[in-house]
Amino acid sequence: MSTKRVILDCDPGHDDAFAIMLAVQHLDVLGITGVGGNSPLGNVTRNALTVLEAIGHADDVPVYAGCSRPMVAELVTAPMFHGKSGLDGHHRPAPTHEVQRGHAVDFIVDTVMGTDDVTLLATGPLTNVAEALNREPRIADRISEICIMGGSVTFGNWTPAAEFNILVDPEAAARVFNSGIHVKMTGLNLTRQCGFTSETVRRFREIGTQASEFAADLTEFFTSAGRRLDDPTVACMHDACAAAWLIGPTLIRSAPMHIDVELSGKLTRGMTVCDYRHLCGPHPECDIERDAQTGYKGDDPNAEAALELDYDGYLKLVYDTLARYQ
Ligand code: RIB
Ligand code: CA
Repeated sequence: MSTKRVILDCDPGHDDAFAIMLAVQHLDVLGITGVGGNSPLGNVTRNALTVLEAIGHADDVPVYAGCSRPMVAELVTAPMFHGKSGLDGHHRPAPTHEVQRGHAVDFIVDTVMGTDDVTLLATGPLTNVAEALNREPRIADRISEICIMGGSVTFGNWTPAAEFNILVDPEAAARVFNSGIHVKMTGLNLTRQCGFTSETVRRFREIGTQASEFAADLTEFFTSAGRRLDDPTVACMHDACAAAWLIGPTLIRSAPMHIDVELSGKLTRGMTVCDYRHLCGPHPECDIERDAQTGYKGDDPNAEAALELDYDGYLKLVYDTLARYQ
């Protein structure tokens, strides 16, 4: 078990479920906080309990309910990908464990103020994280880093420019990227490299644990629902990549850059605007000789963007993890 202490803020969600299964096995998960996103808040918190019961950890990882809607925008959900329940396709009974009393934002604030070196792993809209920063700005000095699944260095999936998690609550995302906390951005440009196939599902079933059967059921549903037209046989469990990055830092190649969020563009609201120019070579504000001497890494790289996935290493981590759950 890594000593990396994390709070997992998520909106399960099939791919959030994989992030939970990876994080609980390999990280010190202090708690899971649910946020409205893929499905309404009541669904995502229930689904988080379902996943924890499927892997036998519902007694040791508390689940809190957070914000049911974005800071400014109306909630947008994704039933076309995750089904009416937010986690369609599994065969688990309704969870018997219950969501903790108390709000997730208070749990985040209290935990960070009382515990050193906490990392936030966020795989849904960033509403809870932004509200925690607004409620107690001092957490920005205490949080080690924030690793998100969200945004993209290239194209979007909800609009041509914006990825779902960022677009659902762009104001919250802008608050997080401008908080001063280092952000590891696992964007669509990376997560579209992580597709599970029918061979993956066969391997899950071959592992034969309750967790791997659960994973196989989720993947089969997500493949059919998520039906990527450029490759309809593949399911990208986006959020699992963000968890994998914290578990195995060498699984992902990244680059430092300044990232901010567009809030008002007619075509670009919710876009993560990534300043990659210092890595591209000459541009109006750069001076190659000076930058080489000074080690300039671009305007205030507040983040690092994931660029390349070690797909075989990632798959091995997923298989090994599912095999370790009895
Ligand atoms: O765009 C993919 C992201 O949106 C994932 O986190 C998925 O769970 C949805 O929340
Ligand atoms: Ca998610």
